[in-house]
Amino acid sequence: MKRHQSVFKDESKLDINFVPNRLPHREKEHRLLMEFFSFLLKYPDRMAQRVLVTGEIGTGKTALCQRFGAEMTLEAHKRSVNLHYIHVNCREYRGKLFLILQHALTVLKPTFPQRGYGAEEVLKALLQNLDEENAYVILALDEFDSIIEAEGSDAVYNLTRMQEMRQNKPQRMSILGIMRDLESTKRLDDSARSTLQRNIIRLERYGKPQLVDILNERVTLAFEPYTVPEDVVSLTADLAQDESGNARFGIELLWRAGKYADAEDKEKVQPEDVRKSISSIIPSLSRTELDDLGLHEKLFLLGTAEVFLESGEAYVTLSEIEKIYAVACEEFDEKPVSHTQLWKYVQTLSVRGFLKTEVSGEGSRGRSTLVYLPSISAEELAKALRALLARQER
Ligand SMILES: Nc1ncnc2c1ncn2[C@@H]1O[C@H](COP(=O)(O)OP(=O)(O)O)[C@@H](O)[C@H]1O
Ligand SMILES: [Mg+2]
Repeated sequence: MKRHQSVFKDESKLDINFVPNRLPHREKEHRLLMEFFSFLLKYPDRMAQRVLVTGEIGTGKTALCQRFGAEMTLEAHKRSVNLHYIHVNCREYRGKLFLILQHALTVLKPTFPQRGYGAEEVLKALLQNLDEENAYVILALDEFDSIIEAEGSDAVYNLTRMQEMRQNKPQRMSILGIMRDLESTKRLDDSARSTLQRNIIRLERYGKPQLVDILNERVTLAFEPYTVPEDVVSLTADLAQDESGNARFGIELLWRAGKYADAEDKEKVQPEDVRKSISSIIPSLSRTELDDLGLHEKLFLLGTAEVFLESGEAYVTLSEIEKIYAVACEEFDEKPVSHTQLWKYVQTLSVRGFLKTEVSGEGSRGRSTLVYLPSISAEELAKALRALLARQER
């Protein structure tokens, strides 16, 4: 019997958290980022930098910043500058500045006692700690819009301005904000906005040729030689381009296609494997978009999907969802968030197109807001969310 072989050489190179050493087609943006922060290497205490990186999903924002962070800290250490790069996904902390800063502080100082300080207190402790260690930090706030959603203007203003008010002390903390577009910054008042928007690096969508290069590079890292033919890469790049130039989507498609090929013991990945993998992915909603949601947004959406599954209704109310959301929380051992917070989820999830709302006419339930699913079956949505949540649990 033929020994079972895999088309993969190293699947981990296709993992969403893997950051490749080289990012083709982002060289210019990488140089620009280094340029913006280059003074930190020479005169770290003179000034703090603020840069925003924007771009649609899968345009390489997170990867670019992490690559930059690794290189920057390496350069700094060569010059004996004690620089740290801390990358936080703010959505994971529901955009709560206090939790985000506390996380940053524990990265710097794992033994720091966690207490019920406010955000300002934690920021002070953070700066003091940096003073004591004569250290500097670039705080990369990924999914930055979640802070604006959760906290509004004052918090953002304090974050950037507080250290400027420390008299005769070195500047310790630079901010690298990462977000899809500048839409949410419109909600900030002028002063908060102007502290942020001086330096903006916009990552344009990838076109097909760029996606082909990116995928080819990943194929070399992750697959055995000659197992992924050119037309497979080309088809995958086409599909990823249709998904608004989303490189992550392309990489995930490739990974799944490889799985289908392995399942049938094929020596090569075939276009049909790519087609199978695209139809296994949620058709009109991208899985990567689902993946970017915070834990409780996922749980809330799972609750929503399951209400629809169980009730068979076309429309449901928030309170109906809330009950099943609480059950989902129990299942995943999470404490439910407040009713007000759930209202915010309804708004952000509807902006992102996962659900839609409608105000009912004067019916038996009175005038109320109803939720419906615009583009996907409840079963598929629940299944996709359960898969993502199970992975998160591991
Ligand atoms: N230029 C590139 N070269 C190689 N891989 C890339 C490039 N751009 C994006 N990727 C990969 O595509 C995926 C999505 O990128 P990511 O940085 O997560 O996008 P974003 O944060 O903008 O949503 C990641 O796996 C990343 O490593
Ligand atoms: Mg990202």
